[in-house]
Amino acid sequence: MVFGGQGLCRLVDGRVCFVPQVIPGERILARIRREHKTYVEADLVRVLEASPDRLKPACPVFGQCGGCHYQHIAMPRQLVIKREQVVDVLKRLGGVTDPPVAPVAASPLSYQYRNRVTVHASRGRVGFFAPKSRRVVSVENCPIATEAVNDLLKDLLSSQGKRIRDGAYPLREPREFRGFRQVNDAAAGTLLDVVQALADPGGGLLVDAYCGAGFFAKRLRESFRQIIGIEWSPDAVRAAREGVTDTEIYLLGDVKVHLVPALASAPSQETTLLLDPPTEGLDSEIHEIIASSLPGRILYVSCNPATLARDIKRMAGNYVLRRACPVDMFPQTAEIEVAVLLERL
Ligand SMILES: C[S@@+](CC[C@H](N)C(=O)[O-])C[C@H]1O[C@@H](n2cnc3c(N)ncnc32)[C@H](O)[C@@H]1O
Repeated sequence: MVFGGQGLCRLVDGRVCFVPQVIPGERILARIRREHKTYVEADLVRVLEASPDRLKPACPVFGQCGGCHYQHIAMPRQLVIKREQVVDVLKRLGGVTDPPVAPVAASPLSYQYRNRVTVHASRGRVGFFAPKSRRVVSVENCPIATEAVNDLLKDLLSSQGKRIRDGAYPLREPREFRGFRQVNDAAAGTLLDVVQALADPGGGLLVDAYCGAGFFAKRLRESFRQIIGIEWSPDAVRAAREGVTDTEIYLLGDVKVHLVPALASAPSQETTLLLDPPTEGLDSEIHEIIASSLPGRILYVSCNPATLARDIKRMAGNYVLRRACPVDMFPQTAEIEVAVLLERL
């Protein structure tokens, strides 16, 4: 299973063929849908020999909707597959020979966990996009979303009469501030535990770049003498500043602007830099700042193993990957959250 949720097999002529909704080890019948120069895409027609890990998907539009890729796979196997994908991506894109990847920490809930979704309306249909397409698949209830989010979906479907205006409709549980919030509240607690264990035993300065409302900083503040959070969302910074202790400071603005003075405020060996950037990862300016300040430890939390691996490769001259801990923040989907610890060489 490759990152993204497709099964990979080879045709007799050696070409790679991608098939969704399969499990490694199964024998299947597939029909070729599209031929590219170097690979082929196919659809699953029938499972000839099923894996013992195969399940009946919970959602009636599984396979047609592009949101979930793994509802047909038992949870323990999903976790094994995701770990293998992290190992693979760290090797291939990260250039790490033998990546120290922990077993994937499971989400306490494997369904009904998403506290927000975005549905799309098009020509009277309301739902999610089909895989790799902008065609809307109608959805009345999303089994990975919380009950509160499904209630919002029901309201949307019923309140606007027959024809809902085309466009995107974010549906989110009510919350105290506008700004980033982890999508799976139950697994967010697991992620905090994982990050705390990687941060141990703590120490001098923690710079929490891309800190949001201080999600990690608040948990780690007992372990560090000083915390500096950096975030450009005013709402999130306002929320972070509520109930601060006198060891916490939250700076409003671009990480590119505040990171240099923040890192300069303590000796580099006593400094831990926590990075939780958007899915695109770090840009060149941030890499340059890290390479010139060289904090002793880097904790990098990522929702995109590919950009994480690229960034680890870029830091390989100065840092070694000590541990990578995936967390199943998005069960049933192909997404993977990973927290890693890098130490200065
Ligand atoms: C993946 S979220 C992480 C938030 C926080 N660590 C949490 O777990 O709640 C990334 C955050 O970085 C912020 N952000 C993105 N680019 C930024 C930049 N260049 N400077 C400051 N903040 C930025 C976003 O507003 C968002 O809150």
